Amino acid sequence: MKNTIETFRKQKLNGDKITMLTAYDYSTAKLIDQSGIDSILVGDSLGMTMLGYDSTLSVTMEDMIHHTKAVSRGVENALIVADMPFMSYQTSIYDAVVNAGRLIKEGNAHAVKLEGGATVCEQIKAIVDCQIPVMAHIGLTPQSINAFGGFKVQGKSQETAQRLIDDALKVQEAGAFAVVLEGIPSKLAKIITEKLDIATIGIGAGADCDGQVLVYQDMLAMFSDFKPKFVKYFANIGEVMTSAFMEYSKEVKNGTFPSAEHCYKIDDDIIERLH
Ligand code: KIV
Repeated sequence: MKNTIETFRKQKLNGDKITMLTAYDYSTAKLIDQSGIDSILVGDSLGMTMLGYDSTLSVTMEDMIHHTKAVSRGVENALIVADMPFMSYQTSIYDAVVNAGRLIKEGNAHAVKLEGGATVCEQIKAIVDCQIPVMAHIGLTPQSINAFGGFKVQGKSQETAQRLIDDALKVQEAGAFAVVLEGIPSKLAKIITEKLDIATIGIGAGADCDGQVLVYQDMLAMFSDFKPKFVKYFANIGEVMTSAFMEYSKEVKNGTFPSAEHCYKIDDDIIERLH
């Protein structure tokens, strides 16, 4: 069954947890979709996991469209949400609408996600007015690392916690259908989740959110540059890949791969007539 923003609404209402994982390519998106995951985020985290940057700041609209297109070809049921990259919506409402439209028209996403609270509400409203669903994202928003002075848990003081509650209410009022809560204390995420009618999707925000999202390379132990506290390894695919690559190298070097079963045949009398 195809998931829509209406599915998210019903899941929040019924208390059914929402599952979301990132994907950036056709093959992975297909596996995630076939596993019954509710939603796929083509995150600008691809800047780190796919392109090797040390932050998301250099990711472009072209990068996002390229990877969103690939994901969309592998998905039948999951709701595809594409991230709006740094400076594709902060600059003006016009830029926000045009770039959100590109992720839908060219990337085939079903919804877009952008970071920020009160400061981006005009953008959220304008995009939603164009009939494009928006997922908001507050807390430890990675596009703000220079302003935050690094990847730091947000909302630990009374003032910043209150600001996050107010931001969550404002993005809901602006028309967002869901909000990602990243890197905030679990008790604060619980309060926000209880106050909102729209779904909260947590990452480093505890178990009381309406759903969870993880970067797939993180949960499969494929990305070893750093491991945030909130990441759980559900399988050690990084280790499985490394040992397969080493075995392949060994077999090529010692001549056991390819063997007869991996080779194409030709009639011997044809070979004999060759000169
Ligand atoms: O880019 C991304 O993968 C994200 C998630 C971490 C929420 O924004």
